[in-house]
Amino acid sequence: MCGIIGILGSEPAAPRIIEALKRLEYRGYDSAGIATLDADGAMQRRRAPGKLKNLDEALASDPVTGDQGIGHTRWATHGLPTQANAHPHVSGPVAVVHNGIIENFRELRHELEAKGHTFQTETDTETIAHLIAANMKSGMSEIEAVQAGLGRLEGAFALAFLFEGRPDMLIGARKGSPLAIGIGEGEMFLGSDALAVAPFTNRVVYLEEGDWCVLSRESYRIFDKKNAEVTRPVTLVQGAGAAVEKGNYRHFMQKEIFEQPDSTARTIGAYVNVLKQTVELPGEGAAAIDWSEITSLQMIACGTAHYATRVAEYWFEQVAGLPVKTDIASEFRYREPALPKTGGLALFVSQSGETADTLAALRYCKEKGLKTAAVVNVPTSSIAREADLVLPTLAGPEIGVASTKAFTAQLSALAAVAIAAGRARGTMSRDAEIRLSRALTELPRLISTTLLLDESIARLARDIAKATDVIYLGRGVHYPIALEGALKLKEISYIHAEGYASGELKHGPIALIDEETPVVFVAPFDGLFDKSLSNLQEVAARRGEVILISDAAGIRAAADAPAHRIELPDCDPFIAPILYSVPVQLLAYHVAVEKGTDVDQPRNLAKSVTVE
Ligand code: G6P
Repeated sequence: MCGIIGILGSEPAAPRIIEALKRLEYRGYDSAGIATLDADGAMQRRRAPGKLKNLDEALASDPVTGDQGIGHTRWATHGLPTQANAHPHVSGPVAVVHNGIIENFRELRHELEAKGHTFQTETDTETIAHLIAANMKSGMSEIEAVQAGLGRLEGAFALAFLFEGRPDMLIGARKGSPLAIGIGEGEMFLGSDALAVAPFTNRVVYLEEGDWCVLSRESYRIFDKKNAEVTRPVTLVQGAGAAVEKGNYRHFMQKEIFEQPDSTARTIGAYVNVLKQTVELPGEGAAAIDWSEITSLQMIACGTAHYATRVAEYWFEQVAGLPVKTDIASEFRYREPALPKTGGLALFVSQSGETADTLAALRYCKEKGLKTAAVVNVPTSSIAREADLVLPTLAGPEIGVASTKAFTAQLSALAAVAIAAGRARGTMSRDAEIRLSRALTELPRLISTTLLLDESIARLARDIAKATDVIYLGRGVHYPIALEGALKLKEISYIHAEGYASGELKHGPIALIDEETPVVFVAPFDGLFDKSLSNLQEVAARRGEVILISDAAGIRAAADAPAHRIELPDCDPFIAPILYSVPVQLLAYHVAVEKGTDVDQPRNLAKSVTVE
């Protein structure tokens, strides 16, 4: 989950490395570092703890020279985010940057220490630098040293190596973490993703599992895990070069919340044929899945994407009569799930398409012979490339670490897929299909109306920001929205928050209720509202501070029991969970702003989690 860039260029490398690292900061921002080779081939290294701007400042006061180098933005796994632990790590002539975890680093470190190597850091990565340097000391060339070293590494990694005195060489390796080669005009690049190399080239070669590569400015060679030379296709990546700007917004998260009328409209437009009032699944291979033959659906994801699957679970069961299981990716494959021999479909949901656990679960399902589909926002990602069927979300690049527009785009796509499945399985009448597709196409307009609540939610946030605990409650399809609301709040405001099914209130969380504890009810006036209202009264009777998010009828019915009301426009119950995501996002956002936290890059988190 760190970001890697490598450059063999024809102009000063440092500014270009910084530019690429800015695009990779979503992968981690605990510390950053750079190493270059000067005109004489001597290694220069600068590192700084904290955000990338600290490295930028360090380089301004103590510049490096050279047209080739490697850079890294870190999300700490082993060792504090200090300058000493920041990458690149160096041993002898070898500098390395690493994304992933080396599981056998302790035994390698003991072995190397016994040979006289002195370690400067607490990281697993430094072991790699020493290992390769030791190989070189024993007489191996750079290439031989890396080849032999890779065979000894256990765990997951993407690596980029720079060698002192070798100004026309970079070596990269990929196992479990993505790495791509960017091909320029007399220049060559390595990057954690196409986004990193996009300012320099749009010609990209994705390394496959176990591949490693040797680059010069004019050429590249790729070897597979058996060290046989291989060719991999060159992909033209479109549109990744444009810098993503905040515009007039204070934060990316705010911008992304306000983009949701467009991002949901784009996504829904890719699935719903408005003229025919029907859903047509996009993507190559859509026809390959015969929903009438699917007997069970297993949905797997992490974080916010997991909550999208929890909402979709209701849709697939209610609309398509399809038995569904949802699982957190990090749990899924370790519990040895009993998977169907035939008729099973595994559906993965991921914004980045790189989340390590989700990717590993996808591979596990493929190995077990299941058909796989992925709802994914980054079309060039590993998950998109490996799933049998890609169901795209068209949210556009999401920069804020807390997911907002990707979540509503995931829900929009999943709702459409549930309609398509219902039609194919004969569980839904034509009238119902028309109603549900129409409801989906109305969603962007309703989100626009809901965004007008921004100021009143900002006022309410001043009050909530004083709380130390907040409870979110919802029933049925709104229960996962309560979970997502609580996740959003804790991620960016650091206030402890819990989401519960309203009916579970009296089985535990009610003990937490007092006048200091805000309780957010996500409860439109639907078939379950009366039951939610009883729970709401139970909280009010214990002096809990109730915030009701509902529609006009719900607000009327609750009379003066809630202390605060957020009134949303009326909508079809089918799309309500998507619409009701918006006020919980706004609430979390404004509470975080009120608390003065780093909204777009909250502490300890990373946007793309590429380690297990
Ligand atoms: C991280 C992010 C979350 C995201 C989760 C899954 O934890 O901070 O916002 O929901 O990863 O990411 P994915 O890219 O697979 O949707």
